[in-house]
Amino acid sequence: MVEKITVSLIKADIGSCPGHAVVYEETLEVAKSVLEEKKQNGDIIDYRVLNCGDDTELIMLHKEGVDSEKIHGIAWEVFEKCTAKAKELKLYGAGQDLLKDAFSGNVRGMGPGVAEMEFTPRKSEPLIAFMMDKTEPGAFNLPIFRMFADPFNTAGLVIDPALHNGFVFEIWDIMEHKRVFMKTPEEMYDILALIGGKSRFVIKRVYPKEGGKLPADEPVAVVSTEKLYQIAGEYVGKDDPVALVRAQSGLPAVGEVLEAFAFPHLVSGWMRGSHNGPLMPVPFRYAKCTRFDGPPRVIAAGFQVGDRLIGPVDMFDDPAFDYTRQKAQEIAEYMRRHGPFEPHRLPHEDMEYTTLPKVLEKLEDRFEKI
Ligand code: 13P
Ligand code: 13P
Ligand code: MG
Ligand code: MG
Repeated sequence: MVEKITVSLIKADIGSCPGHAVVYEETLEVAKSVLEEKKQNGDIIDYRVLNCGDDTELIMLHKEGVDSEKIHGIAWEVFEKCTAKAKELKLYGAGQDLLKDAFSGNVRGMGPGVAEMEFTPRKSEPLIAFMMDKTEPGAFNLPIFRMFADPFNTAGLVIDPALHNGFVFEIWDIMEHKRVFMKTPEEMYDILALIGGKSRFVIKRVYPKEGGKLPADEPVAVVSTEKLYQIAGEYVGKDDPVALVRAQSGLPAVGEVLEAFAFPHLVSGWMRGSHNGPLMPVPFRYAKCTRFDGPPRVIAAGFQVGDRLIGPVDMFDDPAFDYTRQKAQEIAEYMRRHGPFEPHRLPHEDMEYTTLPKVLEKLEDRFEKI
């Protein structure tokens, strides 16, 4: 029997330079040295440390399963040590996403974002890790739906019998803390009715259907869904999300997985977490938020998961995505010209946890009945 493996992608904003632009090299070195020590001790099989904008991303390969106290404890230790370094260097927002003081067995609900999955590795296991900055978990709804459910994106849904049956989507209502499992293609319209409301309904996982090539109880995609303001009670930064997607042999091909990002769709986040803007796929070296603290961006790290992590390959480092980036910049320019007006600025309901209510408070007494 093949032993299951787990890939954990755990991220946090531990501070950046300057402002919310990019993770500083010296704090990345701290993360790498802690994980190297854990690898030498045999706590984890392998690891990579990356960053997307001001978010520090830890990718760990291990056999401890999901929600492991040991693995989450390692991530917390890394983030605490990085935060200490960030404080020493007086980086901006040092410890931004570390919202609780003491680790209590799991980083969920403490600030960091988590995407992890345990699965039985196939003979060959291509996996893409997506990391976004200046946006929220719902930003993954459109591309994940396209990969696994849209035949205009994924040719395999039409021409490969192994994909033809469709998939099961686990969708979370992150306001009411409920979830529902729904099938494609038969429930496609109902799924879209939910996930089009991306600030509330988010795709958490995708599973194969029963009776196919792959075990139906092992996820093939997973997205982080942590909401920072729900933990902190106020705006402390955006819940910049991450996702893991497995590919090929019964799943969308790597190119079908990436194709879902060829359209720079509008996501919320950007400046002060309060604006809609296009999601721009970029190479690692451009994962650095500048214009109006953005625009929101996504990187893709490609791996073959074997006895260790083979990769990362910088998947958006390709002129094939230049057109998307150009389009994203046109949209960024167009949206910016709206200044403080909706729909560039987020609608009122979504501004509840920002600093805007404090501005409006002082006007309260001046309102007269009409
Ligand atoms: P190869 O024939 O090169 O393996 O490619 C198959 C495939 O799925 C391409 O999308
Ligand atoms: P982050 O969520 O990436 O920290 O950005 C916060 C912000 O306010 C950017 O303007
Ligand atoms: Mg930040
Ligand atoms: Mg960020």
